[in-house]
Amino acid sequence: MLLKNLFIENSETASDIRIQDGRIAAVGILDALPGEEVEDFKGRLALPPFIESHVHLDTCLTAGDPVWNKSGTLFEGIECWAKRKEKLTRDDVRERVNRVVRMQAAHGIQYIRSHVDVTDSKLTALKAILELREELKDLVTIQVVAFPQEGIESYPHGRELMENAVKMGADCVGAIPHFEFTREYSVSSLNFAVDLACRYNKLVDVHCDEIDDEASRGLETLAARAYETGLGDKVTASHTTAMHSYNNAYMQRLMRLLKMSHINIVANPLVNTHLQGRIDTYPKRRGITRVKELGEAGVNVSFGHDDIFDPWYPMGAGSLRDVVFMGLHVCQLMGYDDIMNSYRFITTNAAKTLHLGADYGIKKGNTANLIVLDAKNYYEALNTDAPILRSYRAGRLIARSEPGKTEVLL
Ligand code: FE2
Repeated sequence: MLLKNLFIENSETASDIRIQDGRIAAVGILDALPGEEVEDFKGRLALPPFIESHVHLDTCLTAGDPVWNKSGTLFEGIECWAKRKEKLTRDDVRERVNRVVRMQAAHGIQYIRSHVDVTDSKLTALKAILELREELKDLVTIQVVAFPQEGIESYPHGRELMENAVKMGADCVGAIPHFEFTREYSVSSLNFAVDLACRYNKLVDVHCDEIDDEASRGLETLAARAYETGLGDKVTASHTTAMHSYNNAYMQRLMRLLKMSHINIVANPLVNTHLQGRIDTYPKRRGITRVKELGEAGVNVSFGHDDIFDPWYPMGAGSLRDVVFMGLHVCQLMGYDDIMNSYRFITTNAAKTLHLGADYGIKKGNTANLIVLDAKNYYEALNTDAPILRSYRAGRLIARSEPGKTEVLL
C-alpha cells in the first residue's frame, strides 16, 4: 500500500509512505509498484499515533453514578468513587472500557497508560483491564499502572494489594504520596513503590503532589530514588501540581535534581485546571505544573486527559486535542513554535514516558503505526479541531473519519 503526499511531522515538503507486511517499507518520493493500492492524501499531515500517557480507564464514563461531585474537588471525587467502587463488576468495567477505548481510537490514540485503582480487596477493575489489555491489543497498546487511590500505607493491606497487582501483571507501580495520612507515610510509600518496581523490573508512575499545598514534596523523594536506584527515566511523576506553588529558590534546587534523575513528568491540563485552586479565594491558582520551565530545562513532559466523564471530571470524549489546546493556554505556550510543535506532548515525549522504544515513529523499518489528519500541519489541525482521517496500526486501517460538511447559506 502506498500513501501519497503526506507532510510528515510538519515537514514543508510532501513524502510518500509505503506499507508492506505491517511495516514501513519506504519513505520518500515513491512510484507505485504494479498492482499496488494507492491513496493520495493531497498534502495532509501524518503523525505517529497519539499516546494517552495518563488516564483512568476504570473510572471513565461513571460521572453522576451514584452521585455527582458537587464541590469539584479531588477529595470529593475520591469519596464519590469509593461509593461507585462498591458496585464494580467485571462486566461493568469491560463495557465502559470497551466503549471509551473506541472513543480514544477514533481520536487517533493507539497507546494508553491507564492507572487502575488497586485499593480494592477483590481487584475487580485490575482483573478486567488486564483481560482487555490482551483482547484489545490489535486496536491499542494498554499499559497498566497499579494505582493505590486510597494510599499504600494508609489503606488496609495496601502493600499487599500493590504487590499482588504487580504479580498479576501490572506494567507499572504507582503511589499517591500526597494522600497518605502523614509525611512519614508519604516517604515510606514512595520507598516501597520504587523498591517494588526494582524487585519486579517494572516502570514507576506516581500520582505525585496533586494538591495545592506548597509543602507537598513527594517529587523530591521520588526523583532522588530514581537517581539513586538508576531507574532514571523508567520513573514518571504525574500531576506535580504543587510545583505551581513552590517558591523559586526551592524550585531551583529541585530542578537540578529532576535533570539529574531523568524522571518524566506528566501534566493533565484539563483536569487539574478544573480540580485545583478550589479552596483558593482570589487570586486563584491555575493548578498546573511548570510545563514551560521543565521543558526549557530539558525535562521530558507529556500530557494526559486523566479523567473522562467520571467523578473527577464531568466532561470529555477522549480527545487529546482538547488536552493540548487547554495545556497551551494555561501554560502560556502560545508562541508559533510552541503551538506548531505541541503534538510532541502527545507523541514523542509521551513515547519516552511509556518507554515505547525506537519502533515508535514514522521511519523506514518501523511497525506501520501512523495517523493522517485533515490539515497540512499541527498548528492548523489544533486550531480547526481537524478529524483523524485515518489511523493505521501495523499497516491495518483501524479507524477512519470523513470531514463534516457545513454550508453557510447567505
Ligand atoms: Fe490521575
